Amino acid sequence: ASLTVHVDQSRATISPTLYGIFFEEINRAGDGGLYGEMIENRSFEDDKEKPTSWSSLGKGTLSLDQSLPLNSRNPTALRVDIPEEGGGVSNAGFKDAGLAIRSGESYRLSLYIRGEKLSEALHARLESSTGSLLAEQTVTEISGTWKKMELELTSKDEDLVGRLVLQTQGSGTLWLDMVSLFPKQTWKNHGMRTDLAEMVANMNPSFVRFPGGCFVEGDTMASAVRWKDTIGDVAQRKGNWCIWGYQTTGGFGVHEFLQWCEDLDAEPLYVINCGMAHKDSIPMDKMDEFVHDALDLIEYARGPVTSKWGALRAEAGHPEPFKMNYLQIGNENGGPLYEERYALFSKAIRKKHPDIQLIACDWGVIPDSYPLDIIDEHYYNTPRFFIEHADMHDAYDRSDARIYVGEYAVTQGCGQGNLIAALGEAAYMTGLERNSDHVVMSSYAPLFVNPDWRRWSPDAIVFDQARSYGTPSYHVQALFANHRGDVICPSELKVDEMEEEARAGYVGVGTWITQAEFKDIQVTKDGKTLFQSDFSTGSTDRWRMPSGQWEATEGVLRQTSMADNVRAMVGTASWNDYTLSLKARKLSGNEG
Ligand code: AHR
Repeated sequence: ASLTVHVDQSRATISPTLYGIFFEEINRAGDGGLYGEMIENRSFEDDKEKPTSWSSLGKGTLSLDQSLPLNSRNPTALRVDIPEEGGGVSNAGFKDAGLAIRSGESYRLSLYIRGEKLSEALHARLESSTGSLLAEQTVTEISGTWKKMELELTSKDEDLVGRLVLQTQGSGTLWLDMVSLFPKQTWKNHGMRTDLAEMVANMNPSFVRFPGGCFVEGDTMASAVRWKDTIGDVAQRKGNWCIWGYQTTGGFGVHEFLQWCEDLDAEPLYVINCGMAHKDSIPMDKMDEFVHDALDLIEYARGPVTSKWGALRAEAGHPEPFKMNYLQIGNENGGPLYEERYALFSKAIRKKHPDIQLIACDWGVIPDSYPLDIIDEHYYNTPRFFIEHADMHDAYDRSDARIYVGEYAVTQGCGQGNLIAALGEAAYMTGLERNSDHVVMSSYAPLFVNPDWRRWSPDAIVFDQARSYGTPSYHVQALFANHRGDVICPSELKVDEMEEEARAGYVGVGTWITQAEFKDIQVTKDGKTLFQSDFSTGSTDRWRMPSGQWEATEGVLRQTSMADNVRAMVGTASWNDYTLSLKARKLSGNEG
């Protein structure tokens, strides 16, 4: 084969913001994921009936108590009644998967505590899953009023399924709130779990879209994300119910997001709720508050320290302005309700901040009553769809608003991610790149999954409390973003005849099969048989196609990797003069 690149005929300029990331609070991506908190249900607000994730030690009894709240945004505390024999509480992290405690590493424990009639000292410990002591400190000065305690625990050994214990040998009653444990060492000391933050940094993103996704919308407006709930003292943050099935703490809030972008040297792209949730919306005459949320957010990010919201940013430790050059109005919102709300936001923001690039949703229709900067398109489909749509943006009118492909991924027929999915996305990305004079931004979705909390597949980064790895799609994203070009040059690929013959073996009718028996494999050219399988169903131990590309044992293709499916060619297909026919009997799984 020969490839000719016409370097003298440069065409489109590749957008410097073409490759970014989309972080959504989904699959425990933030709380219990990238955000370094190790304790699930730290403020006891996750479930109003029971202290999820907390267990009693000894004969102590646990109950939720709202009689003397820490503050009005954090009304529930844990009450621990401990009898003569002693007792306490323990927490083994998210879904009780265990705490990843490493030898020689230090952990910061902070908690609010009050107590009555405590006869003995209270100890804070890190323990292994078998109960051996890894680190210990004494919690002192417990009184009848709330007091914040901060302790450092340095582990003398490793256990990746350890737990936090608060225990006394004596009796008494304790109240606990905001019990938080972080590794002392976080990424750039800004609270992100190091291994996960490094995986993201290795994707070399030029922007970060945050915090969703459907998470921004909420099921109803009551659970829609409001950024003002996510700033200031973490003990004062309300947290909200995540549409993906869990309570969030608000700990990974807007300030942490802006700091993260700065650490990544990436543009922040905040998605603000536009007064629309999945099941309800805010009437137009009550939309002012939401529009002000957007204006105040911009002031928080980049207003002077003398402004109301800029002063809060400075108080949080960042007097210099953060960047904020992009803002997305809503997520996957459309129709007449969106049209009028988009116009409202757009008018108010443009008046005060004409330099900000506004991103509008393309959800069936796009708003057309107001000038648009950038439109957010979403695609989830098969590998074939993405391969076939690699040229979809070639024909877009350059005088229209520019495009942000804000969410895309192969999600069908690829289990929890596989190489074919990644190849489909890669093929599609060549089209994004070729058109990046107009397609100025793109981001794969979703970014993270903890399999214990999986609500969406596939995802780019898979993690548990101690480990992480990238799916093939992650590596494609990193590959493209780490090898950015400046301009697109026209190119031609010529394939010689020998290779074309070899490639003929790939011609086929695709069907997804998990496991199948094959028979009657035949390749013909000009009506002449070139290859015929010499086994009948189930009786062979090996067959090989003439191109040498495929193999199976005992006539059965089996699942070999983490992917759920095997791509098999079933049926008859032709390419040039070749015809391939293959019969298969499905043993399991067929997604069509
Ligand atoms: O990426 C997962 C979800 O897909 C997002 O929350 C939403 O925007 C889309 O429907």
